[in-house]
Amino acid sequence: MHELDRYIYPHRVLHWLVAGAVLLSLASGLTLGFLGYERSVALVGNTLTNLLYTSHKTLGVTILVLMTLRIVTRWAFVVPDHEPPLNAFERIVSTSVHHLLYLALIAMPLLGWAATASGGFPVEFFHWHLPGLIGKREQLSEQLFMWHGRLGWVILGLVVLHVAGAMFHWKIKHDNVMKRMSLFD
Ligand code: HEM
Ligand code: HEM
Repeated sequence: MHELDRYIYPHRVLHWLVAGAVLLSLASGLTLGFLGYERSVALVGNTLTNLLYTSHKTLGVTILVLMTLRIVTRWAFVVPDHEPPLNAFERIVSTSVHHLLYLALIAMPLLGWAATASGGFPVEFFHWHLPGLIGKREQLSEQLFMWHGRLGWVILGLVVLHVAGAMFHWKIKHDNVMKRMSLFD
């Protein structure tokens, strides 16, 4: 038995920062994907459209940084026990969803970065332009944006499953799962 009953504080803070950033980046990304550049300019003007693109890219790069930190806080520190222990089904489903979320949230910003750079667009992080790391190749960019869009739906599906699981533990099973990640007592 570990004496800890929740994840270390920095890991919990990172969880909720990433959760907020993922919801915002899905909302801004889907808006961009649905409208496209021209329709967005026609609807809300140049300034707001550019702000939407810059914010989306900035959020995405931030997620990449936070997820990298999070992998460190996940692997370097003790993971709390489940009280009562999860059954085999819960263990397999939750571990799979968590691992897939980690994988998708590293792959997604990298895809967005590569798609943007290969399309000849700036990889923006606040007011800085990050190195593209990949030359302009329009066909590749189209493919990468297609996978960026598809992975977006996969992430949305995983988040829905994950939140449903958290609610089940919190409101129906009344076990310590929510407490492990909670910022409050
Ligand atoms: C929206 C984006 C979200 C993402 C990407 C996300 C991701 C994750 C991941 C990867 C874990 C595994 C634990 C770890 O970090 O090692 C986790 C744990 C957890 N999440 Fe989320 N989460 C999100 C939102 C939420 C929300 C909205 C809730 C609550 C309603 C929630 C509740 C929890 C709880 C209770 C745990 C602990 C599970 C356990 O200890 O087995 N998460 N989350
Ligand atoms: C976890 C982080 C990210 C998430 C969840 C996310 C999500 C999305 C989603 C769902 C779309 C809509 C795709 C479509 O419907 O075609 C999108 C579009 C877009 N994303 Fe991301 N994204 C992330 C990171 C990034 C990063 C890091 C960049 C660039 C540096 C980026 C650049 C773009 C651009 C330029 C579009 C518009 C594509 C178009 O016009 O069709 N994204 N994103």
